[in-house]
Amino acid sequence: MSKKIAIVTGANRGIGKEIARQLASKDFKIVLACRTLEKANQAKEDLLKENSNYDLLELEINVADINSIHKAANTIKKQGLKIDVLVNNAGIFPGNYNSSIINCDIGEIKEALNTNTLGPISLIQSLVDSFNKGAEIINISSGMGQLSEMNGHCPAYRISKTGINAVTKIFAEELRPYGVSINSVCPGWVKTDMGGANATRVVSKGAETPVWLATENPGYTGSFFRDKELIEW
Ligand SMILES: NC(=O)c1ccc[n+]([C@@H]2O[C@H](COP(=O)([O-])OP(=O)(O)OC[C@H]3O[C@@H](n4cnc5c(N)ncnc54)[C@H](OP(=O)(O)O)[C@@H]3O)[C@@H](O)[C@H]2O)c1
Repeated sequence: MSKKIAIVTGANRGIGKEIARQLASKDFKIVLACRTLEKANQAKEDLLKENSNYDLLELEINVADINSIHKAANTIKKQGLKIDVLVNNAGIFPGNYNSSIINCDIGEIKEALNTNTLGPISLIQSLVDSFNKGAEIINISSGMGQLSEMNGHCPAYRISKTGINAVTKIFAEELRPYGVSINSVCPGWVKTDMGGANATRVVSKGAETPVWLATENPGYTGSFFRDKELIEW
């Protein structure tokens, strides 16, 4: 049987690289989708040093650039790759933890939306005919996007992550005829460049739930998870 194929965006560091590592170790062929080919090649080299049996492909994608998304999707199609898993992991946190909606630069909000919300929409649109039946899309969201927990500050990031949750719900309905599931995951507060050194979780824990959804296919679509449990929107 041929290997399952997983595309992971932002696979060159942090949670994305760990998801790629864990899925590669479960015998997936991984498309390391990174902002530049150099970053993808470096990630490939790093992971192959850990295990030369990993099956890895490099792909350039800037999820904030529609032309780059279309180019990447065309590359996938030209190679005849049928996708089993797409992890929309690439993300940014513009501003800082003190950013206030009262006076923040609107450009920060646009920037966050462009990368964290619109990028995944465009990528799914571009790949919609390239998914295998039973495929799983995982949108890496955040508890900071939960309306049930919404609080002040960090408006750009919060709005973009609430946005990606809406994207999950809307696609969940419209992808049913394609046999494709889509869910949001909050990885928790993870020690990465974004999460910082004080974060409470290591990357392996942050990757756990996305990898569970990708490998166990527990039968959900349009849901939001943390630690393999459903959480409120
Ligand atoms: N860490 C946490 O505590 C935490 C908590 C909740 C949710 N999350 C979410 O988890 C995901 C991964 O975060 P992380 O903590 O691993 O962050 P990270 O260490 O800062 O890594 C972010 C990744 O996204 C990539 N990326 C950003 N903008 C991109 C673009 N335009 N095109 C392509 N790649 C781009 C980065 O690539 P470059 O190297 O090229 O910049 C990098 O690979 C994000 O969606 C984040 O919002 C993280």
